[in-house]
Amino acid sequence: MKCTIHASKQFVRGTVDPRLFGSFVEQLGRAVYGGVYEPDHPAADEEGFRSDVMDLVRELDVPVVRFPGGNYVSNFNWEDSIGPKENRPTRLDLAWKALDPNQFGLQEFMHWSKKVGTEPMMVINLGTRGLAEAKDLVEYCNHPGGSYLSDLRKSHGSEKPYDIKLWGLGNEMDGPWQVGHKSAEEYGRLACEVGKAIKLFDPSLELVACGSSNSSMPTFPEWEETVLDHTYEVVDYLSLHMYFRNEEKDIATFLACSASMDAFIDTVVHVCDYVKAKKRSKKTMYLCFDEWNVWFHSHEKDKQQTPWIVGPSLLEDVYTFEDALVVGCLLNSLLRHCDRVKIACIAQLVNTIAPIMTETGGKAWRQTIYWPFYYASKYGRGEVLESRVDVASYENRQYGTIPYADALVVHHPETGEIDLFVVNRHEHEMLSLELDLPGLGNSYMLVEHIVLEHENLYAVNDAMNPEEVMPKQVLHADTENLQIAPLTWNLLRFHR
Ligand code: AHR
Repeated sequence: MKCTIHASKQFVRGTVDPRLFGSFVEQLGRAVYGGVYEPDHPAADEEGFRSDVMDLVRELDVPVVRFPGGNYVSNFNWEDSIGPKENRPTRLDLAWKALDPNQFGLQEFMHWSKKVGTEPMMVINLGTRGLAEAKDLVEYCNHPGGSYLSDLRKSHGSEKPYDIKLWGLGNEMDGPWQVGHKSAEEYGRLACEVGKAIKLFDPSLELVACGSSNSSMPTFPEWEETVLDHTYEVVDYLSLHMYFRNEEKDIATFLACSASMDAFIDTVVHVCDYVKAKKRSKKTMYLCFDEWNVWFHSHEKDKQQTPWIVGPSLLEDVYTFEDALVVGCLLNSLLRHCDRVKIACIAQLVNTIAPIMTETGGKAWRQTIYWPFYYASKYGRGEVLESRVDVASYENRQYGTIPYADALVVHHPETGEIDLFVVNRHEHEMLSLELDLPGLGNSYMLVEHIVLEHENLYAVNDAMNPEEVMPKQVLHADTENLQIAPLTWNLLRFHR
């Protein structure tokens, strides 16, 4: 099947903010206890952080990590997680019905972030708490000293302020499952007042308001409009969340699901621009897609989980090869919208619906979805070019007309290199790739073709076989005739 990609460096869709490759660590399941933090593990460092996990996080190069939730945050008292560990209370986490010993708190997260080379996105509890606790948290974290809370931080051993730039104003406040769920009016008012107080403290801090938990919420998209009516001039980003599933084992539909991510982003952009017009505002609202991934494998198992224990095995999706293909398409969707989506967080990072998996007391390894994320994070930081992909398409009951090739072109102006991310959605046919890159010259050479392929869609990486699904180099005798195998994720790198 012929697939021609037309792109020109004259037509730039947007420059990718590296924070598009962010992630998320929630106090949930074994994300923290048995994941990033396990003092008894042979690979634990002097602070109890697993060095094998830190190595993988560094390799993935996530520029921002959202913390501490998620649903967890809506019932979290930040004051419980500071100071000497032996004085910290154990609390009930109502969101996940778990025990929270508060041993990996604010300071530990900041130290861990520094060690893995990431920036924090700190989410504030606007479920059970409000303005007073939010402004206190910001003072504790970011004020240099001389005030009660900044001096308290110093007394806890952090002389320098944490200097956290990015703040989330609550989590999924539109969701009835949320502890402290609010109407759009209630949340919009609260987020506006909290945002105002934070900006009084430091106008350079960046704020994310909660959008809808997914595009099927009955309140979508009125929620966005109402929340922005209240917060437009105060916040910098509006959040989006979306998870994808394939319980029916229908690969054609599953591979098409990135169309719903595209549609969700497009609608939210329109609502933002509508509110901008209504308010006669000069400001453009950007988006923060701070939870996205495949999530369904663990649903049944999680119903059996014993409640009220520390670090239960929750949301431990073991990802298949087909999930990696879908993650490749979702990354292309985010990159295609890089003019408006500036920040995104794959949910999550370790163990809970995560690219990195561990055994408590044992190994750490890369799940299948690790690979498309790794390569997008490594080579996706450039200019996404407007492109037209001429290829046949198929009709899907749920998502409509879907092209067989999901292709995206990234140009790196400083080196002139071009990276092409392609998923072949066709189950049987090769794609014969043709590139039409006017303005980029004819002197481009293919220097690398990396493919993720497997004959079994349900192949996984696990502790016994952590390298079952691995990227491979493809060698081409004839770079004029590039063939992309059916049901594969591909990265093609071109140099001048
Ligand atoms: O990432 C898992 C959960 O999904 C988060 O806690 C919540 O925000 C979302 O519903």
